[in-house]
Amino acid sequence: MKDIVALCKRRGFIFPASDIYGGLNGFWDYGPLGVELKNNLRDRWWRDMVIAPPLGPDGTPVNIVGLDSSIIQNPKCWEASGHVGGFNDPMVDCRESKKRYRADHVFVLIPKDGEGHAFAFDQDAEDVEIEKRLKKLSRGKSVADFNKEVLDQVPLDMFSNIIGPDVKTAGTLTEPRQFNMMFHTYVGATASEDNKAYLRPETCAGIFLNFKNVVDSSRVKVPFGIAQIGKAFRNEVTPRNFIFRSREFEQMELEWFCAEEDVPMWFDFWVEQRRAFWLSLGLPKSELHFLDVDKADLAHYSSRTIDIEYRFPFAAPGFDELEGIAHRGNYDLTQHQEFSGQKLDYFDQAENKRFLPHVIEPSTGLTRGVLALICQAYTVDENRPSGVYLDFHPSMAPKKAAILPLTAKDKHVPTAQKLYLDLRDEFVVDLDIKQNIGKRYARQDEIGTPYCFTIDNETAEDHSVTVRDRNTMAQERIHLDKVKDFLREKINGRS
Ligand code: GAP
Repeated sequence: MKDIVALCKRRGFIFPASDIYGGLNGFWDYGPLGVELKNNLRDRWWRDMVIAPPLGPDGTPVNIVGLDSSIIQNPKCWEASGHVGGFNDPMVDCRESKKRYRADHVFVLIPKDGEGHAFAFDQDAEDVEIEKRLKKLSRGKSVADFNKEVLDQVPLDMFSNIIGPDVKTAGTLTEPRQFNMMFHTYVGATASEDNKAYLRPETCAGIFLNFKNVVDSSRVKVPFGIAQIGKAFRNEVTPRNFIFRSREFEQMELEWFCAEEDVPMWFDFWVEQRRAFWLSLGLPKSELHFLDVDKADLAHYSSRTIDIEYRFPFAAPGFDELEGIAHRGNYDLTQHQEFSGQKLDYFDQAENKRFLPHVIEPSTGLTRGVLALICQAYTVDENRPSGVYLDFHPSMAPKKAAILPLTAKDKHVPTAQKLYLDLRDEFVVDLDIKQNIGKRYARQDEIGTPYCFTIDNETAEDHSVTVRDRNTMAQERIHLDKVKDFLREKINGRS
C-alpha cells in the first residue's frame, strides 16, 4: 500500500486533503488523473444502470431512472431511517495516550499461562508487524469471535486488566461507548438543536424520499429502479487504508423496487449483474469473493446482504468489502410513510392493489472502487525504467493515449499537435513534448496510458507513427489515418 499511495501522490491521482496544512485524517483530494479515473468509473456505472440498463430475466431491458438529491435533507429523514438512533460504532478511549479505537477492532490477547495482564491490539494500527501477527493469530476470525473465545477461557475484568495498544500500564481504556457517525451542522443563522441537520451517511435516503415524486412524474412501473451517485459522509472513528475507509466518500447506489414475491429472483439477478460489472473492468475472478453476510452482522434495515469483496493489498490473503447487495425489505418506505404521514404505497393497476414495494439495493463506493482499480492495476516490472506500470482496463485509464513527438523540433511537433487535436474530441489524450522519449514512456507507464503514438523522421516520409503497447512494450507502425480507428477498437471494442 505504501508504494501505491506514493505513486498516487507522485503522479497526481490522489492527494491528502489540506496537504499544505498537514492534511485532515479521513479526507482526500482527487488530482488531475484521479478525477479522470473516478469519472470513468462513475460514467460506466451510470451507463450500465441508467442509459443502457441490463436485460432482465424475461429478455427485455429493465427500467431504471436517475436522481440527484440533496446531501442535507429534513433531519426527520434520519430519525425515520434509524440513523439518529442506530448509526453507531462502539469506541473505546485511552485515558493515557488520548487515542481512540473501534471497540470491535481491538483484539484481546492473554498470556499463554493466563496469568497477569492481557494486551489489546488495534487491528486498524498502521503497523505491518502488528497486522501480520494479528492475521496469524486470528486466522480470519472476527474480533468479536476471537475475543469471545479468549474471554470464555479466561474470564477477565476487561477494562481494569487490559494494557491498551499504545501504553504500558493496565486500566487506561474506557468502557466501550456508542458513537454516532453522522456529521451534523446547523441550517440558518442560529446554532440550536431545533435547526440541527445532518450530512447524509448514505445516498439512498434521497431516493426513498423521492419515491412518490418519481412514480407520479415518470412512467415507471414496479419493478423499476432509481439510481444515484453522490457524496456521503461518515465520521468514522478510525479512517484507514488510504481512501478505503474515509470520512467523505462517494457512493453509487441503485434502489430496485419490486414485489415481495419476486425478491429472490431479483436478488440473484443483481448479484450476477454486479459480478459481471467488476469482471468487465479487469478485477479477476480470483481476486473477488462473495460473502453471504452473517445474520448477526447485517445492517439494521437488511434481512440479507451479499458483500462483493476484493483482495485489497492490506487485507491479503483475505478480502474486504467493495460493494454490498442488500435486501432492505420495505423497511425504508414503511418508516418514511410513518414519520412523514404521507402515503408512499404503490398502486398496481393490473392487479388493482396497493402495496409498499420491497427493495434490492446494490450499493458500491465509487471511491472504494477507484482504490480497487488502482490496486489491481499496480504491476511491478523490473525490466522497464519506471519499475512499475498501471495495467488499467483501457476504458478506465485516465489517458487513453499519449502523443509524443520524438524530438521537440519543428519537424515532429506540428504533426503531433495535429494528431492531438484530431483525437481529443473523442478521447482523453496527452500531448507530451519535452524530455527524452524513454522518460516520457516511463511516465505514461506509471499513469497507465495504454498506447503511445510517436512521431519521428519516418512520419514525414510515409505518414506512419509508432504505436507502443503499455503492457508488452511492443512497437508497431501504423498509418496516421488509422490511429483513430485503432483507438476506437482498442478502447471501446469498435471501429
Ligand atoms: N445504502 C447502503 C450502504 O450505505 P454500506 O455497506 O454502509 O451500505 C455501501 O456502504 C458501500 O459504500 C460500501 O460497500 C463501500 O464501498 C462504501 N463505503 C461505506 N463506507 C465507506 C467509507 N467510510 N469510505 C469509503 N467507502 C465507504
